[in-house]
Amino acid sequence: MDRLDYSCPVSTSIDQLTAQSTQQTLLAALDTWRDLPAAQQPTWPDAAALERVDRELAGYPPLVFAGECDELKSNLAAAARGEAFLLQGGDCAETFADATADRIRNKIKTMLQMAVVLTYGASMPVVKVGRMAGQYAKPRSKPTETRDGVELPAYRGDMVNDYAFDESSRRPDPQRLLRAYHTASATLNLIRAFTKGGFADLRHVHEWNRGFVANQANARYEAMARDIDRAMRFMAACGGDFDALRTVDFYASHEALLLDYERPLTRIDSRTGAPYNVSAHFVWIGERTRQLDGAHVDLLSKVRNPIGVKLGPTTTASQALELAERLDPHREPGRLTFITRMGASTVRDVLPGLIEGLGDVASHVLWVCDPMHGNTFEAASGYKTRRFEDVMDEVRGFFEVHNTLGTIPGGLHIELTGDDVTECLGGAEHIDEAHLSSRYETLCDPRLNHQQALELAFLVAEGLTER
Ligand code: PEP
Ligand code: CO
Repeated sequence: MDRLDYSCPVSTSIDQLTAQSTQQTLLAALDTWRDLPAAQQPTWPDAAALERVDRELAGYPPLVFAGECDELKSNLAAAARGEAFLLQGGDCAETFADATADRIRNKIKTMLQMAVVLTYGASMPVVKVGRMAGQYAKPRSKPTETRDGVELPAYRGDMVNDYAFDESSRRPDPQRLLRAYHTASATLNLIRAFTKGGFADLRHVHEWNRGFVANQANARYEAMARDIDRAMRFMAACGGDFDALRTVDFYASHEALLLDYERPLTRIDSRTGAPYNVSAHFVWIGERTRQLDGAHVDLLSKVRNPIGVKLGPTTTASQALELAERLDPHREPGRLTFITRMGASTVRDVLPGLIEGLGDVASHVLWVCDPMHGNTFEAASGYKTRRFEDVMDEVRGFFEVHNTLGTIPGGLHIELTGDDVTECLGGAEHIDEAHLSSRYETLCDPRLNHQQALELAFLVAEGLTER
């Protein structure tokens, strides 16, 4: 060859440099949150160690793709229009130790069963989102915890420190951010395998019930599963195509609380040039970190994922309007979800005013009920618990209010586990205060067990049919 052709390598490297500097400029524009107050962040003892972790996390591959987030956004838009229903559930606080195949499988089975009850019982497509693969950081009511006169930093989730009550366990350790990423990655890998690899095939609708103790909700589920089986055999006999029934879309979500995790996992999508949080498909801002001028609202206002905000009973309509303005100024369908957590005794009094005060915005956002966080109390024995009856009642109240106002009750956000824990009172098994200690395993808020979760799904299916 007598001619050297440099054009290709030279122009590629210039393109690459331009792309890199554009990326840097775009990413830098995301950093205005750094000058704003950020509630509920740990005090990391070693700034240099945090800096190293930040760089390492920023170099890791994304856990989810922008295209998947967009797909979820359009599913949530359908839920906001009343054409689908969101089911979002999982632990209050995931732990690294519980990221085992059995625990993850049981949670997925429970969610799939709830989704079947809702889809079949209410003839409604269900958008399935786990509080999974990233729910490792928790806001706390106090920054420290005192036991027998000893005061230590509060447990802020496995992403920050350890639950054990001693000085070194409770010291925030940024290496935990890396472990959170790897645990999330392994969890997501298993979720993808379970939901795309045949396990979620609707023809296994009976098998998801195996291994769970026989009880009232399971028996009701079995009866429904028999009907579904019969319908599937009928479709097969008619030459029906089962492709849509073989796999399930299952999305991951968590509270975007710890900004030292969320920021390095915010990336510029190479296809569109837009920033996405690639640690989960959906992230939400908690009740304690939704300050209008705070760092959380600022960072999440810049990413393109579908996002949520928790709204407690003291939320004013003007705060909610301002949140909608900052987080969804273009009123993009599916972008913004308001997750209300009012409490069973207040939902019917407080929610109507909030919805009415929002005007047009109320019919644009997706309204989701979290019937857990407004109903927590401490039992005489000291266990933090919730009454299943209160959880059910808040869901009923949520449906009543939306049905009266003509807005859409579009989803349910719950804390559950697929295991037979005894953390919430009541349900068909009549768990009472004396029972709480027998299998109380949560490190944070009490979760519905498998049976209570199924019972709740039947209630919601009824609510949806009346909608
Ligand atoms: C949670 O979802 O676990 C939580 C802390 O909720 P909230 O922000 O609504 O209190
Ligand atoms: Co919780």
